[in-house]
Amino acid sequence: MTKRILSGITPSGNTLHLGNYAGAVKPQFDLLEKGFESYYFVADLHALTTIQDRDKLEKCIINNVFDYIALGLDPEKGTYFRQSDVSEHSMLAIVLANYIPFGLTNRMHAFKDKLAKGISKEDINMGLFNYPILMAADILLYKPYGVPVGEDQRQHVEFARETARYFNKAHGEIFPIPELLIQKGDASKVIGTDGERKMSKSLGNVINIFDSEDVIRRQIMGSYTDPKRIRSTDPGKVEGNPVFVYHDIINEDKGEVDDLKKRYREGKVGDVEVKERLFEAHKRKFSEARKRRYELENDISLAKKILDKGAEKARKLARVTMEEVYEVVGITNKLNK
Ligand code: TRP
Repeated sequence: MTKRILSGITPSGNTLHLGNYAGAVKPQFDLLEKGFESYYFVADLHALTTIQDRDKLEKCIINNVFDYIALGLDPEKGTYFRQSDVSEHSMLAIVLANYIPFGLTNRMHAFKDKLAKGISKEDINMGLFNYPILMAADILLYKPYGVPVGEDQRQHVEFARETARYFNKAHGEIFPIPELLIQKGDASKVIGTDGERKMSKSLGNVINIFDSEDVIRRQIMGSYTDPKRIRSTDPGKVEGNPVFVYHDIINEDKGEVDDLKKRYREGKVGDVEVKERLFEAHKRKFSEARKRRYELENDISLAKKILDKGAEKARKLARVTMEEVYEVVGITNKLNK
């Protein structure tokens, strides 16, 4: 039996960057290549915690779809859909909430981060507080074998696992406990061009995939490297150095990367050359995708078609689980059947 995997992305930024690519897109595609049955969705309901502007929301969603297709998502192989198109996500969240203790939700970091930023508990948006509950529903609905996510989603997936255990304790083995599939190494938390924090659009430390070459070049040339290296003749540090982290992700010419690393360590290559090569590698790696992305932009109906088809497939699975859940909790009864 093929193993099923499921994951989602909240479309909060306008377009994907290298961090998204390495942490989410690439692992997803790799698993698909390995023959997993893949379900992947744009979490538009989750996006409501931060976007409350319909035009902006629509744009983020459509761009996300374009980005994925351009990067090589094959809608024939994987199921790609929009969360809100499958109403069972919301339905299951309402049921699951009754099996989750307040204390567990109260310890979640997405919510605690807001408190840390000085927002009062009284003013926290309930969508944010409930975020992990909806996410648990997203996951459990499809009874996946595993959930491939970046490091930042670890706690959320663990929450979903806990939720499954609570529910199963009450009603028997309904939900298999999903595996947390986090890749090892740097990829699940790609460092930003500031050399300090995780790459993130809101921090402005990204390297985009689909921006104009000018912008991408500027993002690459402006990246931090080894802060201790003053002259290009000083031996430099490669480990954790953002430009080498990026080389490892996108430069398929491993011989070139090894040579650059060697020379960097010996103080025989300057930052500028390393970055120029990175820019060239970026062009090689993404030029096809960028071209496709450009063509798609004029074909919104294609994106919509893909989402419709995905939703239809996802709904079939979701419905089966939802009926099972209603049945065991007692929502389906003689009166409504
Ligand atoms: N919270 C995830 C993110 O911000 C997106 C997401 C929503 C998700 N539901 C999910 C990921 C279910 C994996 C499984 O990227």
